[in-house]
Amino acid sequence: MATFRILVTPGDGIGPEVMEEALKVLGRVQQRFGHEFVYDEETIGGAAIDRYGVALRPETIAKAKASDAVLFGAVGGPKWDDPRASVRPEDAILGMRKQLGLFANLRPVRVAPELIGESTLKPEVLQGVDMVVIRELTGGLYFGKPKRRWENAEGRQAVDTLRYSEREVARVCHVAFQLARQRRKKVTSVDKANVLRTGQLWREVATEVGKQYPDVELEHILVDACAMYLVRRPASFDVIVTENMFGDILTDEAAMLAGSMGMMPSASLGRRRKDGTGIGLYEPIHGSAPDIAGQGKANPLAMILSAAMMLRLSLGLDREAKAVEDAVDAVIREGLRTPDIAGPGAKVVDTRTMGSAVAERI
Ligand code: NAI
Ligand code: MG
Repeated sequence: MATFRILVTPGDGIGPEVMEEALKVLGRVQQRFGHEFVYDEETIGGAAIDRYGVALRPETIAKAKASDAVLFGAVGGPKWDDPRASVRPEDAILGMRKQLGLFANLRPVRVAPELIGESTLKPEVLQGVDMVVIRELTGGLYFGKPKRRWENAEGRQAVDTLRYSEREVARVCHVAFQLARQRRKKVTSVDKANVLRTGQLWREVATEVGKQYPDVELEHILVDACAMYLVRRPASFDVIVTENMFGDILTDEAAMLAGSMGMMPSASLGRRRKDGTGIGLYEPIHGSAPDIAGQGKANPLAMILSAAMMLRLSLGLDREAKAVEDAVDAVIREGLRTPDIAGPGAKVVDTRTMGSAVAERI
């Protein structure tokens, strides 16, 4: 029997509600497949500010580093929103990513045929959409130095810097190619090579890394064209890999193909081992949704699908991940709907009923 250590950080708002359902589903996976998941739970975000005065404690980081993976709910809420506050709930997620060296953020976008109607795009455009957008997470425009504001005779000035090293580009490209190998074997590298020096470097390095994966097709697209193709022919993409800010923008655009945030998981990955696994942080893309917290209205599927990504990408449990994803597809096919994905006349269920239904189908 394989044993895995998982750090659980439920966070604020609906975080604990959706986390409870993900753990229910993982409990079922343990039972059916005979693994042992050893959990450690830590208070983070707003709840940690109330309890410890900080959003993320060094103890939590230490526990994360000693784990195979981190399951992260969501942090934040109006109670901690004072912009002048010196501690903020988001420090938890930013600190975790940084201190665990999680440089690749993966957001899969799949559109269940039954939910195509929830999107604002035409049904025929969404047919067959199944992609993963990988955003470089610890470099690029958001972190490059110099980064500052000043004032001179001409008035207020500001600078941000887009800088990448070949090593930073190569490691995130490797994540993309390795993932594509398990999928439809196509990588789309997105840059702005016609204008930016970093874009040229990005394209060069992506091409070099691609040579090590001759079985995977590599295409290069400029970021502005990519924004257009995402809504025009989204089904043509398999794995997209791109710079931090480009990825921030494109992932939000891509997420909207699927309709509800309540369906969208994500993974943030660091260095990979030879077998492709390695520590990662898994969280839904949505936040703490204070408007519906405590009412049983939260859709737990994004959190449950994040747990499935954890099984595959950090624990190396492919079959088990597939079983969870199939169970989610099954409950959608059977017509179970939380309010965020319920069309007229749908059978609306609460958070717990949805989680239990997924668990039962594994
Ligand atoms: P949000 O994602 O929490 O909510 C946006 C809208 O989507 C709300 O109407 C909410 O009810 C709905 N929604 C979100 N998740 C849902 C789910 N699972 N099921 C059904 N409906 C769902 O974003 P918002 O309102 O901008 O932010 C709320 C708080 O969350 C803020 O404090 C923000 O800073 C924080 N946040 C935290 C994130 C994280 O922990 N990684 C990410 C995004 C926001
Ligand atoms: Mg964003």
